[in-house]
Amino acid sequence: MATKKISESVITMTELVLPQHTNQLGNLLGGQLMHWIDICAALCAAKHSQNICVTASVDRIDFHHPIKLGDAVTLVSSVNRVFNTSLEVGVKVYAEKFKEGSKLHSNSAFLTFVSVDSVGKPMIVPPATPETEDEKRRFDEALYRRENRLKDRNK
Ligand SMILES: CC(C)(COP(=O)(O)OP(=O)(O)OC[C@H]1O[C@@H](n2cnc3c(N)ncnc32)[C@H](O)[C@@H]1OP(=O)(O)O)[C@@H](O)C(=O)NCCC(=O)NCCS
Repeated sequence: MATKKISESVITMTELVLPQHTNQLGNLLGGQLMHWIDICAALCAAKHSQNICVTASVDRIDFHHPIKLGDAVTLVSSVNRVFNTSLEVGVKVYAEKFKEGSKLHSNSAFLTFVSVDSVGKPMIVPPATPETEDEKRRFDEALYRRENRLKDRNK
């Protein structure tokens, strides 16, 4: 199976935080952000594999800074590593206030997707070759995270 470049399936998505996305303090709801993270990562997994991908797991997500009503939220997803039928996708979340010209890295998340056929049977994913130093680092770190995930799965 031909190997693909990680850069070919990078997805960038920008959302505007509206009142229906926030709590009573005007902060973006965690569940809304998790939904955007899932969509951004799923698009990346599907683009890389050129197939339907289902979310198998989401690693821990920490919320370091509140994202406020009116902020622009940009999510960037890329393939960290392909295993067999699964792949790890990393998502970086940035909150921007255009008026102030500020941009804050608010979250990172790692999700595992499984490529499946029309009846949900896992299918082999084309390999992804890391090229840049960052891609190589993420590729190495993804193996360690997978080992921990599989240990947890077998508990
Ligand atoms: C994900 C799913 C396809 C895995 O099916 P399965 O029969 O357990 O498949 P297998 O045991 O053969 O594992 C297939 C791959 O999934 C990976 N996997 C399965 N569960 C996993 C988990 N919880 N976390 C990470 N990877 C997982 C396996 O490591 C394997 O990867 P590999 O082929 O790259 O080594 C199946 O559990 C499923 O359809 N789940 C529901 C998905 C869904 O609806 N998602 C939306 C969530 S609301």
